[in-house]
Amino acid sequence: MLVTRIGLQNFRNYSNLDLELSEGPTLLVGNNGQGKTNLVESIYYLGNLGSHRVSTDQALVKQGEEFAIIRANASNLDIATLLEVQINRNGSNRAKINKQEVPAKQLPRFASVVLFAPEDLVLVRGEPGSRRRFMDELLVRLKPRFGGILSDYDRVLRQRNSLLKSSKGKIPAGGESTLEIWDEKLVELGSQIILARAELINYLQPEVTAAYSDVAGSTHTINLYPALSLFGATSIEDDDLTLVKDLDPEVLSEKFHERIIENRKAELERGVTLVGPHRDDLSIQLNGMPSRGYSSHGESWSLALALKLASANLIKHDSLIGDPVLVLDDVFAELDESRRKRLAEAILDFQQILVTAAVAKDVPLELSARIVPIASGQVEPTN
Ligand SMILES: Nc1ncnc2c1ncn2[C@@H]1O[C@H](COP(=O)(O)OP(=O)(O)OP(=O)(O)O)[C@@H](O)[C@H]1O
Ligand SMILES: [Mg+2]
Repeated sequence: MLVTRIGLQNFRNYSNLDLELSEGPTLLVGNNGQGKTNLVESIYYLGNLGSHRVSTDQALVKQGEEFAIIRANASNLDIATLLEVQINRNGSNRAKINKQEVPAKQLPRFASVVLFAPEDLVLVRGEPGSRRRFMDELLVRLKPRFGGILSDYDRVLRQRNSLLKSSKGKIPAGGESTLEIWDEKLVELGSQIILARAELINYLQPEVTAAYSDVAGSTHTINLYPALSLFGATSIEDDDLTLVKDLDPEVLSEKFHERIIENRKAELERGVTLVGPHRDDLSIQLNGMPSRGYSSHGESWSLALALKLASANLIKHDSLIGDPVLVLDDVFAELDESRRKRLAEAILDFQQILVTAAVAKDVPLELSARIVPIASGQVEPTN
């Protein structure tokens, strides 16, 4: 995918922006707080229907305004598409493809963006939730039907939890069978998610290993495992998750049911669902040791970059709409000279790369040929 032109209206600190973009790398430069991240965030939004830094859309609408508009001319394998979304402060958003009103969830079919940011370090050092999000975003990108499965699971989980909570420690009014209906749905959807993530992890493993040696400059053994709450309580690392190498779908569903029955009393008492993919993790091991808690700062950075790079490469191989747009937001300032160079080399063959930096000299020259200066929510005129 290539964004040839981006237009913003009342998006964050942009009142009106109209910017042409070209293939290859573009460097957005400006002082802190000028709108560099805001600009790339708008492009990320089209591919993910959400921001990478806030969980609701409210903050995206310029202060004092009612709605924001993102308009992008995209080119996918030379087919031009006009993508538009209106983000409303109140009420639901509206989207158009080639001027035709469509459900917003269709936009990501034409927009694929992988964003690298300093916050990616949480993929290695942070809580399991960030790794689950990473897996699920990639899963949906590679297998779009999982978008529906994941949101159905979330809905079932929420409804089951509120039933557990309202029962105040006892079997609910409608009897055991009311709960069993939700158990059934939880197991059915949850098992699909667990299996799909496990398959994804297998697929990801060699890509991450290769990407790690690209960015770190040396080869190390990297192992990725699903860490499952379902088989929990015999701890290998963190928390009470168990790393599982081979999953048999039938054993999985059976085990899920067993654990639910086993946990009935505890779940009723606590009002939450204790096992399932919402409690799982991705275990990352570097040279046989869990990276979380063992890896150095530099190693953690290389791992985080490798995970992102690997996901970009998988999307690139798999995609029907060409390469994802790569966005590197403030990443280079965090890296030493040799990692900067290696990362630049590893990404140079992506069709479009947008880099932001407060200081242009932090960015390797091969990514700095085209510079767009940003100040106060505008492109600064160059004369
Ligand atoms: N909804 C909004 N309405 C108006 N201004 C906003 C809104 N959201 C954010 N801003 C402003 O946008 C600016 C931040 O822009 P952005 O995060 O893009 O900065 P940046 O250029 O990436 O800076 P840095 O180099 O520090 O990362 C801040 O001044 C912030 O107050
Ligand atoms: Mg920024």
